[in-house]
Amino acid sequence: MKTVETIAELQTEIKAARAAGKRIGFVPTMGNLHEGHMILVDAAAEECDYVVASIFINPLQFNDIDDLGRYPRTLSADQEHLKDRDCDLLFYPSVDEMYPDGQEAQTTVSVPVVSEGLCGDSRPGHFDGVATVVSKLFHMVQPDAAFFGEKDFQQLAVIRKMVRDLNLPFDVFGVPTCREENGLAMSSRNNYLSDDEKQTAGQIYSVLTEIKDKILAGERNFAELCVLGKQTLLEHDFQPDYVEVREANSLAPATEDDTDLVILVAAILGKARLIDNMRVNLA
Ligand code: PAJ
Repeated sequence: MKTVETIAELQTEIKAARAAGKRIGFVPTMGNLHEGHMILVDAAAEECDYVVASIFINPLQFNDIDDLGRYPRTLSADQEHLKDRDCDLLFYPSVDEMYPDGQEAQTTVSVPVVSEGLCGDSRPGHFDGVATVVSKLFHMVQPDAAFFGEKDFQQLAVIRKMVRDLNLPFDVFGVPTCREENGLAMSSRNNYLSDDEKQTAGQIYSVLTEIKDKILAGERNFAELCVLGKQTLLEHDFQPDYVEVREANSLAPATEDDTDLVILVAAILGKARLIDNMRVNLA
């Protein structure tokens, strides 16, 4: 696996791969790679012949400067992980390479509706930052397929909508969430949890499962289910941000007639803000 830091080198490598008739799969990340990222690389390797991953801690999507400052930076361990799997090229640009005219002077990509509410409320500007950097990376890599985790469900919805609205000519694949044994969704932010907190954090999965089971059993008072879910989280020392049931494609509040639902949770535990979700298919 080769690591390149400039857009020029990235494009030289990709041009050669494309000339050799290879189908290019792209996995954007912010590094501190764990198994949740690796299954995206595996999915890309399954679907494509040449896998490009990127590691870029994108300042534009952090609305909290401390959060940006403490985000784990683990390049050599990340390179080792990627070498163990079928990643062909790692793009590791600097902030200057990505934003040569400065972040304030950057054209912004803004995706309405799906980026509003949920994490869009608690992290103002976050999804503009995500859509902008992912759009830039898409233009640099020009992949045939791009891979994102369902763990960040609203992010995936934002990317899908952007790709559709801007007629970007490739497929977006959503990859199911990779979890710890107790159900905790793997995340770089789990590093901020103590061992005890990691055990407690499994409660998010229990709450999601409980709500899912109740919906499958016929319960349709979604608001009440969400209140109960929040109560359980409070009892386990979380500060819940939201527990919501939404229509899975539009992310609009769920109605009784919807058949494809998603339950979404965001909650703070200790120093970590954790998010997770679970689909409920009633069709
Ligand atoms: P990051 O948090 O590093 O995540 C990179 C990709 O890995 C995202 O698509 C995310 O959904 C996926 N992922 C993370 N944990 C996962 C898990 N437990 N199971 C499955 N997939 C998981 O998301 C970002 O970076 C950034 O916002 C980015 C898209 C790179 C733009 O800067």
